[in-house]
Amino acid sequence: MTRHQVSGKPTILITGAAGRIGSLLRRTLPHDPALKEHFKGSFALKVTDILDPGPGNKEDEVFVGTLADPAFVASMFVDGSVRAVIHLAGYPREADWDVLLDANIRSSINIWEAARKFKVERVLYASSNHAIGFYPRSRTIDSTMPQRPDSRYGLTKVFGEELGFLYAYKFGIRSFSMRIGMFLPEPTTHRGLSTWLSHPDMVALAKVGLTADYTCEIVYGVSDNSRSFWDNSAAQRLGYHPQDSADAYAHLFPASDLAQDDAAEHFQGGPYINDGLTSSPAFRAELDKD
Ligand SMILES: NC(=O)c1ccc[n+]([C@@H]2O[C@H](COP(=O)([O-])OP(=O)(O)OC[C@H]3O[C@@H](n4cnc5c(N)ncnc54)[C@H](O)[C@@H]3O)[C@@H](O)[C@H]2O)c1
Repeated sequence: MTRHQVSGKPTILITGAAGRIGSLLRRTLPHDPALKEHFKGSFALKVTDILDPGPGNKEDEVFVGTLADPAFVASMFVDGSVRAVIHLAGYPREADWDVLLDANIRSSINIWEAARKFKVERVLYASSNHAIGFYPRSRTIDSTMPQRPDSRYGLTKVFGEELGFLYAYKFGIRSFSMRIGMFLPEPTTHRGLSTWLSHPDMVALAKVGLTADYTCEIVYGVSDNSRSFWDNSAAQRLGYHPQDSADAYAHLFPASDLAQDDAAEHFQGGPYINDGLTSSPAFRAELDKD
């Protein structure tokens, strides 16, 4: 299903627009003066999801369908107006390969292929902290460290980051992978004191991705939490200055419910680590070494 409102303006395409992050960005980005200036006066949104994202702004073009279908994806780009994609659509947690292949792998391939064919300037990608979940919490890692996926889901996010790399350096499409921590109105767990990303900070990070000068960046989608596992200097250099901090909620979660030697407590990926875990603890200890 497609509802067209052709405006002739440059457009930003938001995928996963019926979802939590997509609906926030859809609501907020059109009113941002800095973005209007960046797009030399005005821009429009195209929004897509496998579920109907609802009417939203009057001018939005809405496309309902699966991104696993390349013809459907191409139909959103064919008018040549798409300048930037914010690619959020996907299955957002651990699942069987059958689910992840369509939602996270085929969909991402189709988005980047369309971006190449229709000369899109940049793709912002919703990666995840589960792309690096197998780092111990005792290490503060930046965006240059090799990925360490903690799940099939995390591995699909590694794949998306690497699609961004290939299409940036091979085809000149700017790539901005956001390793999102825990996007919620407020932290709800002890681990969230490290990984929380507030709604305003999500918007701020997307604005950096839409306007900054870069070729291929991996950044952390995290607020200004003093307990963060991540060195987010790459995002800061590009102009990301988070306004919120999980520190304000620290009194609500004074300690984890888990023992220190529980793998979910030891590694950054938290509960994703224990999901299906059968390897020996001795083997996992290798991951603590620098
Ligand atoms: N929310 C978080 O804390 C968090 C953390 C890390 C990464 N992320 C990533 O950010 C993105 C958005 O997260 P969210 O919390 O808004 O998730 P969400 O589940 O609320 O939204 C994802 C949207 O993608 C759509 N979708 C799924 N498969 C699709 C397909 N084949 N074609 C078209 N649309 C499809 C869904 O219908 C859904 O509306 C996801 O890719 C997720 O993996 C989120």
